[in-house]
Amino acid sequence: MTHFLDIHTTAKSDLRAMIDAARRIKEARGDVPKGTPDRDQPLKNRMVALIFEKPSTRTRISFDLGVRQMGGETMVLSGADLQLGHGETVADTARVLSRFVDLIMIRTFEEATLHEMAEHATVPVINGLTNRTHPCQIMADVLTYEEHRGPIAGRKVVWSGDGNNVCASLIHAAGQFGFDFTFTGPQPLDPEREWIDFARCQGVAAETERDPAKAVEGADLVVTDTWVSMHDPQSARERRHNQLRPYQVNEALMARAKPDALFMHCLPAHRDDEVTSAVMDGPQSVVWDEAENRLHAQKAVMRWCLGV
Ligand code: CP
Ligand code: NVA
Repeated sequence: MTHFLDIHTTAKSDLRAMIDAARRIKEARGDVPKGTPDRDQPLKNRMVALIFEKPSTRTRISFDLGVRQMGGETMVLSGADLQLGHGETVADTARVLSRFVDLIMIRTFEEATLHEMAEHATVPVINGLTNRTHPCQIMADVLTYEEHRGPIAGRKVVWSGDGNNVCASLIHAAGQFGFDFTFTGPQPLDPEREWIDFARCQGVAAETERDPAKAVEGADLVVTDTWVSMHDPQSARERRHNQLRPYQVNEALMARAKPDALFMHCLPAHRDDEVTSAVMDGPQSVVWDEAENRLHAQKAVMRWCLGV
C-alpha cells in the first residue's frame, strides 16, 4: 500500500519524481477553464474520500478539484458527521471506507489517527494535515520555489515564527530535497528536536538563531505561518502573540534576506500579525502561486499513491 503520510518517511527519489510530475501536470493543463477535465484521466471511475476533522479552504478545494479534473469523484466528509466523531474506532472506519473508496485523504488532530487509518485501510491514505505535520503543503512549496528560482537543493530556507506542523514538514523537506534550514522563533515554540536531527542526518544544515535579523541573512526563501494553529488552545493566544511579535515577517526583515529571496505562507494568513500586508502583497511574495500549486502537487501525490 502506497500511503503518503509524511515527507521524511517517503523516499527521496519518489518525492523528486512527484515534484517533477506535478510540474509536467501543470504545464500540460495550461490555462484552460477550471472545470475542464485534464487530457489524462487517471482517476476515471475512482472514488476518493476527503475527511476533515478541522476546517479547510485550500486542502478541501484543491483535492476536490484535482480529483474531478483527473476524472474521479469525491465524497467530502466532515469528521463530526461520521460515526468516527461519535465513538466508532478509526480502525473500523478505515476498514469500512476501504470497501467504498479507492483513496482516503484525512485532515485530523492526532498523528496517531492518521497512522491508525493507514494501518487498517486497504487503500492508500494521504495526510491532509495533523497537529504534527502538513506534507502536502510543503510539496506545493517546493514546486513553487523551483518554478520561480530553479532547484531548491543547496538554498537557504528560513522559518520565522512558531515551530509548528508546517514548519516540521519543511524541516523534513530540507533533509529530503537537500536545502539548508534555519529556524528563528522563541525557545518555547522551537520545532521538535527529532525533526532537526532528521535533517542533519541527511547532511544539511538545520540551525536555530534567536535573532530574526541574523537568521534571514543570506536567505533564499523566508516562510512563516499563523501564530496560533487550529489545534492550539485559544487561551494561548495572547502569550503567543507576545512571544512571536519580534518574529513578524515585515519589509525590514525581508530587506536583510537576499535581494531575490521569496516569501511564502501556507495561508490562511493573519495580516499584520505573522506577516505584514506589505510583504504578503509585495513583489517577493509567491503565496497565491503556492496556494494554486496545492492542486498540481496533490495530483502528483494521488497518482503516485494509486500508481496511475
Ligand atoms: N494551507 C492550508 O492547508 O489551507 P487550508 O487550511 O485552507 O486547507
Ligand atoms: N499551522 C496551521 C496550518 C493551517 C493550514 C494549523 O495547523 O492551523
